[in-house]
Amino acid sequence: MPYERQEIAPERISQQLDICQQIRNLRAGKASLAFVDTYGCQQNEADSEKLRGYLAAMGFSFTDNEAEADVIVVNTCAVREHAEMRILGNVGSLNHTKKAKPEQLICLCGCMVQQAHMAEKIKRSYPLVNLVFGPHELWRFPELLLRVMTKKGRVFSAAPSDGVVAEGIPAVRDRSSVKAWLSIMNGCNNFCSYCVVPYVRGRERSRRAEDILREAKQLIDSGAKEITLLGQNVNSYGKDIPGGPDFADLIRMINALDGDFLIRFMTSHPKDATEKLFRTMAECEKCAHQLHLPVQSGNDRVLHAMNRYYDRAAYLEKVALARHYMPDLVLTSDIIVGFPGETDEEFEDTLNLVREVRYDALFTFIYSKREGTVAAKLPDPFTRADKQRRFDRLVEEQNRISAELHAAYVGKTLRVLVDGRVPGREGELSSRTSGGRLVHLTAAPELIGQWAQVRITGSNTWALYGTPENREE
Ligand code: 5AD
Ligand code: SF4
Repeated sequence: MPYERQEIAPERISQQLDICQQIRNLRAGKASLAFVDTYGCQQNEADSEKLRGYLAAMGFSFTDNEAEADVIVVNTCAVREHAEMRILGNVGSLNHTKKAKPEQLICLCGCMVQQAHMAEKIKRSYPLVNLVFGPHELWRFPELLLRVMTKKGRVFSAAPSDGVVAEGIPAVRDRSSVKAWLSIMNGCNNFCSYCVVPYVRGRERSRRAEDILREAKQLIDSGAKEITLLGQNVNSYGKDIPGGPDFADLIRMINALDGDFLIRFMTSHPKDATEKLFRTMAECEKCAHQLHLPVQSGNDRVLHAMNRYYDRAAYLEKVALARHYMPDLVLTSDIIVGFPGETDEEFEDTLNLVREVRYDALFTFIYSKREGTVAAKLPDPFTRADKQRRFDRLVEEQNRISAELHAAYVGKTLRVLVDGRVPGREGELSSRTSGGRLVHLTAAPELIGQWAQVRITGSNTWALYGTPENREE
């Protein structure tokens, strides 16, 4: 059945804001501290900014200390079992804080609880949880929280859905940061055979370009110097809005906004990465020459079994084309090791693809079986130890390549955006090149939030080291 965009009418968001006011009145005179704990991807970070926006409208201030929070919202991830185990462990340990503070409200939202078996597990085994809601219900969080506050029972709301588009939800962003997330679409239509995302986040829904541009302008006006456009598959942006701009057009429109800022985006699916996109990136001076282009495997049989819609040769062609338009491109990728039935020989194909492409950095994962996906039904004869051995070899190979590529920066002067202090290292600041590589600086903290010209003096596998040459105004 074709998917229809389900746009939430602005009046319904206004109603939610009225409910925030109601909650504010209801809690008048009470301490109101909230803790929003976020797991998983940047899309979840962006969702948490909206949860905080609603909570602020209800009169809450924020804490990172779960013991003192009156409301805890855990925004969960489902992409791998490891994340789910960590979340369940941490939720279980909230038993202590809730004993000391029985009126504390504990809410779980996001991808993990959109899975029926997980919602059921929480219902059965985690009685301390008061409210559970899925990603499609985030827009009505105030209404759900009010229900919990007034009826004193538990509320579960994570019905299956293709997903919604909701505009006008307030957001509370990290004020100290010059980096901002901008979600341009939600959901995924690709159904890679290992991935749970399409089941929990629904079908691809693009936001309207005028809404995205309005938000981009607001971000720039409030001091953002780096805007990262987010979506599970950003380069299929606009396919669900006939006659509207595609992703490359959208980049051009954002690039035309006034201001000194950098545009980044993620994630791109290789099958939808077009020559038009690469050309646009090269031509738009505010667009970073940075591409996260997950390959997942270097073997054709495995790629087919993963339902990725490209083979090794087609992927390598895209990489060559992107580098043709942007010779200074910083290229990163995701790789899954140990997909069901992947043999040692097939893994070697991945390893030699990595040697051939020479990524700047890699995000590597051991395959994790996800209930309800096609790959979960495939026979998987290899042991965890086999997979770990492959994983370690891949990481070692990539570390060597990253170190070599980083070493080539030494002696160069580059423009970076200084984004904060390096935790635990007195006097060191962290910054990013326009390609997104991390540069540690020894510099005064006044530089935080500024662009700077930096001479690279050292490097290792994970970072570059540099000193500022002069400060840009
Ligand atoms: N097991 C391991 N890694 C996975 N990813 C997605 N699903 C799984 C899974 N079941 C990885 C992919 C994706 C990244 C966000 O997470 O590499 O690109
Ligand atoms: Fe998952 Fe594939 Fe969609 Fe990425 S493109 S979210 S890996 S199904």
